Amino acid sequence: MIIAIDGPAASGKGTLGRRIAAHYGLRHLDTGLLYRAVALKLIHRDMLDDADAGAEEARTLDPAFLADPMLRSEAAGAGASIVSVYPQVRQALLEFQRRFASEAPGAVLDGRDIGTVICPDADAKLFVIASAEERARRRALELRGRGEDVDEEAILADIRARDHRDMSRANAPLKAADDAVTLDTTALDADAAFAAAVAIVDRLV
Ligand code: C5P
Repeated sequence: MIIAIDGPAASGKGTLGRRIAAHYGLRHLDTGLLYRAVALKLIHRDMLDDADAGAEEARTLDPAFLADPMLRSEAAGAGASIVSVYPQVRQALLEFQRRFASEAPGAVLDGRDIGTVICPDADAKLFVIASAEERARRRALELRGRGEDVDEEAILADIRARDHRDMSRANAPLKAADDAVTLDTTALDADAAFAAAVAIVDRLV
């Protein structure tokens, strides 16, 4: 079984993906971490604008690096949005993701192009959305929880800029697959979003 979850930044798809994977006994891959990992490697080498170096990092990516807490930083997220435009990087990471999805007993992948490009034959596809204001509020709460200073207006502006970049890029832009079910979590807490997602998946598989 393969479950594809796509949606914009801070829509809650990562948390949802983890819980859905546990519920159905599947493996989970937060694919944003792959782009964050490539970005962080390039930032360390001061080569964020080098697509070929990014592709090389993507091909040789050590899965253990995906657990690095630095990947959760805003810098890694902003860098990810830049390297995710490079076709060579997307191609190298496509292979990583397809390999992951094909291994038993199946998997939940969350990202931007899982239902459209990576796993077009997924058994269930969810497109998770929430208003930009609500996503900024959640991201601010998360950062405050980690003891970071937070400027909510700046977070909102960053989310809007990232939405625009993710939706307007030529290669694998963020959009719902034709056969995806959209789940709006603006008014739902994490438990209600999880219950709604399980109801959708149970209906589809
Ligand atoms: O989901 P997350 O915020 O970790 O993703 C970081 C960035 O990686 C996104 O803004 C997007 O540009 C890129 N990304 C992507 N395709 C995916 C997952 C993430 O282009 N499947």
